Amino acid sequence: MLIRVPSPSRSLESEVTPESVYLSRRKLMQGSLALAGMAAMPAWVHADTPGSYANLEPAKAPAWFEEKLPSTRWQAVRAEGESITPFKDATHYNNFYEFGTGKGDPAANAGKLQVEPWTVMVDGEVGKPGRYAIEDLVKPHAFEERIYRLRCVEAWSMVIPWLGFSLAELLKQVEPSSAARYVRFETLVDAQRMPGQRSGFSLIDWPYVEGLRLDEAMHPLAFMAVGMYGRVLPGQNGAPLRLVVPWKYGFKSIKSIVRISLVAEAPKTTWERIAPNEYGFYANVNPQVDHPRWSQATERRLPSGLFSPNIVDTRMFNGYDEVAELYAGMDLKRYY
Ligand code: MTE
Repeated sequence: MLIRVPSPSRSLESEVTPESVYLSRRKLMQGSLALAGMAAMPAWVHADTPGSYANLEPAKAPAWFEEKLPSTRWQAVRAEGESITPFKDATHYNNFYEFGTGKGDPAANAGKLQVEPWTVMVDGEVGKPGRYAIEDLVKPHAFEERIYRLRCVEAWSMVIPWLGFSLAELLKQVEPSSAARYVRFETLVDAQRMPGQRSGFSLIDWPYVEGLRLDEAMHPLAFMAVGMYGRVLPGQNGAPLRLVVPWKYGFKSIKSIVRISLVAEAPKTTWERIAPNEYGFYANVNPQVDHPRWSQATERRLPSGLFSPNIVDTRMFNGYDEVAELYAGMDLKRYY
């Protein structure tokens, strides 16, 4: 499927206000290259990504990741007028309840996550079911970098440069049958390494489960991430494979996926089970539909502090207007 890269979710380099690391790359380019030509730039310009993220510690990555990285299509999707969230915030302010409920718990505990070897069970209504090694799932797909806004239902947000490939490509690879109408995703269960799964106080019935309608899953913006900031995905962000659905609240973007099932009925998702009146199946970002306990009209864009809270207006579909056609005729107050 063609990636449509429509105007609301992308912009020219000149419109992006990226992290200072991007500035250093620009200096390197001595300002002589036409900014509008960025998308078509040869790979060497981005050979410094990690150069673009040069202030980051190098990360040890599996061979399947290292092999793909040099041919990445950098900035295939950009974020209009946005600053990229500093890496430190994106990796130390997380929700990953398997590792604890505090925002710092995932970074503190995810180091124990065992990501090699990693397999993903693909089952249900598919022509090519099976237990796939992550190498085999990733192999057919070129990496792209996509800079997406991430809007959490808790009313904070970030702008993250993900690395990966579209979910539609992965689904086509396993050949959904005509009976498939939804996609169900499951996270790893490993109580030994995931302290949140041992906690007697957890409301979550593990594994963490998420789902999409098949047409949502096939939308070109739905993304499988294996990296971020030009490097392999850290454990706390959902290594080695996570979903990123930028027009939905962050809880739909399930981490550390071990199972993908094509199913006929809508799966019951983790947050729907816990509080169906607060978290719906659709979970589209919508400033007009408040959470029962707080407003969704605005969001706190990280980094944010007491004296500079950095509050911005929340946009319908998180600004990804191109998905509106998926919901034509639907009452989005009812199907929240
Ligand atoms: N996936 C799993 N397995 N467990 C979780 O607790 N939290 C979700 C989502 N994916 C979660 C998860 C929520 S609420 C958000 S906002 C995003 O992950 C946060 O992603 P980030 O930590 O990479 O910013």
